[in-house]
Amino acid sequence: VFMSEIMGLSVLEKQIKEKLNVENVIIIPGNSDEYEWIKQEMGKACIAYLRTVLGERSTIAVTGGSTMAAVADVMTTLNQKNDYIFVPARGGIGEKVENQANTIVAEMARKAKGEYRLLYVPDPLSESAYESIVTEPSINETLQQIKGSSIVLHGIGDALTMAERRKTPDSIAVKLKTNKAISEAFGYYFDASGNVVHKVRTVGIQLEDLSNIDYVITIAGGKSKGQAIASYFQQGKSDLLITDEAAAKQILRGT
Ligand code: BG6
Repeated sequence: VFMSEIMGLSVLEKQIKEKLNVENVIIIPGNSDEYEWIKQEMGKACIAYLRTVLGERSTIAVTGGSTMAAVADVMTTLNQKNDYIFVPARGGIGEKVENQANTIVAEMARKAKGEYRLLYVPDPLSESAYESIVTEPSINETLQQIKGSSIVLHGIGDALTMAERRKTPDSIAVKLKTNKAISEAFGYYFDASGNVVHKVRTVGIQLEDLSNIDYVITIAGGKSKGQAIASYFQQGKSDLLITDEAAAKQILRGT
């Protein structure tokens, strides 16, 4: 049973690589909508991969969300020197504290015995607050560090679920629905073709920065996220997708 399961998943991985046009895919058996621990299994796969790509003093930028929190749950030391730094990818996105990037980064660093920097910036940010915040020396220093990350770990959310979780104003929720937003990542909302429908203004990694990052690692699973994952990959740069079987099957099924 075990062998055939592994063989089955490698076929699925190949199909997802082709469908989403992504170089590397790891699929964990199960459905993380049903069992939270599947997120931790995706986390373990992420940690194993991180070990293979870490350079000297790598900076690892991390987004928020329950999936990233599960990666933090299973984090361990990543190399002999523990010479890496965890940073939040973007300003905090109105999430409960355990799902905020700052919290996750601190937890990852504690378990990996590495360093971390935090970013205390709200979002959405007004244009004028944005202009003055980015010139604040302490924030600017962290921002430079974030922009210089060599690795990004990020989640993908279902657009409307994320809008709700962030208590998005009604006018924007309407905009998301009218423009058929399907997925959300890094505070950007995308439609089924990968067009940006809305963007939350904040500091940190912007979509266009991803092309300068050596390894973008996407972690998202659960049957409910199948469409969202497919939507993000219409445009998103990612070097590795770690997902679960239920999301993968949903992606292949289409709508
Ligand atoms: C949020 C991130 O915190 O988590 C989003 O800001 C991401 O970009 C989302 O889409 C994913 O959350 P979860 O709980 O589904 O892993």
